[in-house]
Amino acid sequence: MQTYGRLPVAFVRGDGTHLYDSAGKSYLDFLTGLAVTSLGHAHPEVADAIADQARTLLHVSNLYYNDVQPKLGARLDALLGGGGRVFFANSGAEANECAIKLARRYGQLHGGPDRFHVVSAYGSFHGRTLTTLAATGQPQKQETFQPLPTGFRQVLFEDIDALAAALDDRVAAVMLEPVQGEGGVNPAPPEYLRAVRQLCDEREALLIMDEVQTGLGRTGEWFGFEHAGIRPDIVTMAKALGNGVPIGACWARVDVAEAFRPGDHATTFGGQPLAARAALTVLEIMEREDIPRRAARAGEQLTEALQKVPGVDEVRGLGLLLAAELAPGIDAKDVAQRCMEDGLIVNAVTGSALRFAPPLLVSPAEIDEAVAILAGVLAEVQS
Ligand SMILES: Cc1ncc(COP(=O)(O)O)c(C=O)c1O
Repeated sequence: MQTYGRLPVAFVRGDGTHLYDSAGKSYLDFLTGLAVTSLGHAHPEVADAIADQARTLLHVSNLYYNDVQPKLGARLDALLGGGGRVFFANSGAEANECAIKLARRYGQLHGGPDRFHVVSAYGSFHGRTLTTLAATGQPQKQETFQPLPTGFRQVLFEDIDALAAALDDRVAAVMLEPVQGEGGVNPAPPEYLRAVRQLCDEREALLIMDEVQTGLGRTGEWFGFEHAGIRPDIVTMAKALGNGVPIGACWARVDVAEAFRPGDHATTFGGQPLAARAALTVLEIMEREDIPRRAARAGEQLTEALQKVPGVDEVRGLGLLLAAELAPGIDAKDVAQRCMEDGLIVNAVTGSALRFAPPLLVSPAEIDEAVAILAGVLAEVQS
């Protein structure tokens, strides 16, 4: 179906930071399928684990146990500080759908039938299902699909007074990204997230952090909310978890998770042995390689290099989720297309900013090479 405005290239192979198209041309992939292949393309250990699992057991229903899913759940729970439970899904939107259903269930159990509302931020992105679209604070994406499910409202991002005014006793949860990714790579200030946490405690609302794009090392911490030193009640993740194998997860504090009873929520493929084994292997590699620290260091190098490029006015973001705001008058979409022609994959996250989300194992030399390609394109565009 014609839902994507695609660029004229077909990729056939990947290797680490590199992608190869059908004509054999190579590209530096500084987008990673939108923050998915954090360990790079065709990581041999992940590939071996997938092949081994495919020969052993691909799938069984969640009506039964399997031997991989509990290991993955335990590992994720440990990364989140323990004391929680996990529901596995197949995408970011589904992980968020679970979070919203759980928050509604918990809110109504503890606060009565009216406590089911979810407050999120303008500029946010939480997915394209009808419910996650209702939570997404981008009216232009919602318009075509009205009427959307009720019980959602948005407030200005980073405005604690606006949030305080919205948090009445019908609100079950506040849902935020630690860095608004699709919204333009805008990090939430740590003091704002701390104030949100306090407000949620005072008003008995749950705090859902959507870590679908930011989670698992990308920002220089395992999870973006760690930069603020807070602990959410529900955390969702997806993209990087399977390094390309579709899997999503919704973690919740155990007393919150207990609001769900058998039969309340389900999905056929969620946490099946194949996806769970890929994700378990990804986490093992990430822990062994100290991926968050590597992302923080590489992010510093990329930030400093981008800041020196004529035509880049500002660099924002955290770790290896960065945006370069271009000088007035430069069209980011045009620059992204020219970069692709010159062998660098980035995308225009707004009309005036490029997004960079390279593999977290990107090398210093690859960063230099990517920035040199961008500098060449910007010099050409400005001349
Ligand atoms: C923060 C955030 N939440 C949710 C989603 C939706 O994830 P998916 O496309 O896997 O449904 C995205 C996708 O970009 C995202 O960035």
